[in-house]
Amino acid sequence: MRREIWLKAPAKINLTLEVTGRRSDGYHNLEMIMTTIDLSDRLFIREREDERIVLTTTSPHLPTDEKNLAYRAARLFQQWSGVRRGVTIDLQKHIPVAAGLGGGSSNAASVLMGLTQLWQIPASLSELTELALALGSDVPFFLYGQTAYVSGRGEIVRPLPSLPPFYVVLARPPRAVSTATIFQAFAASESPHPAKYTSQMVEALYARQTDKILQLLNNDLEKVTFRLYPEVRALKNDMCRFGAEYVLMSGSGPTVFALFTRFSKARRVYHALRGYLKDVLLLHTLRGHETALYTHPKR
Ligand code: C5P
Repeated sequence: MRREIWLKAPAKINLTLEVTGRRSDGYHNLEMIMTTIDLSDRLFIREREDERIVLTTTSPHLPTDEKNLAYRAARLFQQWSGVRRGVTIDLQKHIPVAAGLGGGSSNAASVLMGLTQLWQIPASLSELTELALALGSDVPFFLYGQTAYVSGRGEIVRPLPSLPPFYVVLARPPRAVSTATIFQAFAASESPHPAKYTSQMVEALYARQTDKILQLLNNDLEKVTFRLYPEVRALKNDMCRFGAEYVLMSGSGPTVFALFTRFSKARRVYHALRGYLKDVLLLHTLRGHETALYTHPKR
C-alpha cells in the first residue's frame, strides 16, 4: 500500500457565471462554465502513525487548522471512511487566496481524491461529490478538473469538450473579496434570471467556435463586485485599454482575466499591467488530460 502521494490542484476561471434563482437554503442556483488553467498548487500527503491531520503550508497567511479547506477535506474523509489513520499534508501554495480562482476548493478536491488512493478506499463519484459539496459549492467541479458545465449550487457537473487553446492574462487587485459578501449584495440589489449565455457557450464549445466562445464570456456578479470594489472595474477597463478584447472577472472576483488566441497580444497586455500591478500572470488554458491527478514519479 502507498504511504505518500503527490497531487496537483489547478486553479479555475469562469467563462460564464449566471445566477438563475434564489434557494430556500440561502444559496443561489447557478449556471456556469468553468475551466482549469496552468496555475496549480501542489500537495504532498503522507501517512502518519497517529490519527492526527497535520497541515503545513508555504503561505504565511493561510490557516493550518479546520479553517483551511484542505484540512477540513482530510478530516471529513477520515470520518466518512472510518479509517483510523492520520496524514500530514504539505501544501505548496501558488494560487492567490480569495481571488475567484477556486484555490481552496481545488485543494479540498485533491485531498479527497488523494485519500481515496492513499487509503485505497473505494468511493463513487456521487459519494465524493456529496463530500465535496459539504466543503464548498466549487469543490465538486475540481473532482473533474476539466472544462465543465456546472449548475445547481455547484453539485451538478457535466464535463465538456476541452477548450480550444487560449493564452490567459490573469490580474488581481490587492484587496481580497469575500464570496458571501458579493452574493448578499447580489440578493439585495439584483434579480436572478433564466440563463442565456451558458447554454450557448456549451454549443460553441462542442462546435469549437473560438470567436463565439470569446463573445459569450459573461459573469452576473461583475456588476455587484464592480460597485463594491471599483478597482476591479478599473482593472478591467485598463486591460481593454491595453488591447485585450475579451476580458471577464472570474467567480466573485477580484481576479480579472483576458483570453487571447495570439501570444504577442497577450504578452503586450501582460507587460503593460506589470508596469503597476504585482499580481499579473501569463498562462494558458488546460486540456483535460493535463489536469489528471499527478503523482510524483520519484517519491
Ligand atoms: O459554498 P461556499 O462556502 O463556497 O459559498 C460561499 C458563499 O457564497 C455562501 O455562503 C453563499 O453566500 C454564497 N453562494 C451562494 N450560492 C452558491 C454558492 C455560493 O449564494 N451557489
